Amino acid sequence: MLARLLLLTLLVLACSPAPQQPSPPPSRPSEPSLTLRSGDKVKTFTRSQLLAHPAIKTLSIPDESGYEDQQMSYRAIPMAALMEGLEVSAGSELGYQTLDGFSSGVQAALVMNQDPGRSLAYLAVEPPDQPWPRFEGRTYGAGPFYMIWVNPQLSEIGREEWPFQVTSFTVRPSTEALYPDLVPDRKNQPLYRGYKSFVQNCFPCHTLDGHGSGKLGPDLNVPMNPTEYFQPEVLRKLIRDPHSVRTWAGMKMTGFDEKELPDAELEELIGYLRSRKKR
Ligand code: HEC
Repeated sequence: MLARLLLLTLLVLACSPAPQQPSPPPSRPSEPSLTLRSGDKVKTFTRSQLLAHPAIKTLSIPDESGYEDQQMSYRAIPMAALMEGLEVSAGSELGYQTLDGFSSGVQAALVMNQDPGRSLAYLAVEPPDQPWPRFEGRTYGAGPFYMIWVNPQLSEIGREEWPFQVTSFTVRPSTEALYPDLVPDRKNQPLYRGYKSFVQNCFPCHTLDGHGSGKLGPDLNVPMNPTEYFQPEVLRKLIRDPHSVRTWAGMKMTGFDEKELPDAELEELIGYLRSRKKR
């Protein structure tokens, strides 16, 4: 009897958990991840999940954007396969956000296209053991997630439609579908870029030809276009720093410095505004 009790005590002792060790600090930073959103649905993928995606393949393409026409090899997933299970309605756009907080969008129909007679969009995923080069003169490259195109010329894909360091994609109604009158021909890339810049920077507050919901400032074409009544240099100054042109207590427009709106982009934006004048 005593022997059995002793055995039992020994067994209980053997099975009881070892005294708690303090948990070790996390040994590596958390993995980068990508978020996809459509309506209420949200999907998040870590980099290793993306690298294990069934549709991933190796692509060798001339990189027409971040890596300036160099031939590059990427592990990449067709955007259409990546978006599977999320609703992408006709006329929507795929808005994206990048690591530095930049946000813009690309027409969803272009991104979701699977006809090889048109441009094909892929998400390139940077393998941690084979990092991509840095951009010329920069401390960073396009990784970890970069949207790239095969045969970009087939659908007139511009260089700024290759977003790099992407953190999320969101399906949202597109300005192009809502206001087709405002969209210039994609073949005229400087004009098209000016339009994109206008939509991104000015459309939140200004309507154009009565289109849009930004009602904080005046319409920028009706009844007159500011390129008609401001000298070009004054208009540039006003966009850069409205207070440098005129000032009063109730002013609401904030300026755009060279970082937010580089000189070349400002010229394209003004070019787009000017192009609306004849209407
Ligand atoms: C935060 C909202 C906001 C944004 C963004 C904004 N504006 Fe404005 N803008 C205003 C408001 C409000 C006024 C009226 C003056 C004021 O209150 O500053 C104005 C005035 C102007 C005027 C003068 C019009 C006139 O006849 O007096 C021009 C031109 C103009 N904006 C162009 C632009 C352009 C181009 C962009 C994009 C690069 C832009 N604005 C972005 C709010 C905005």
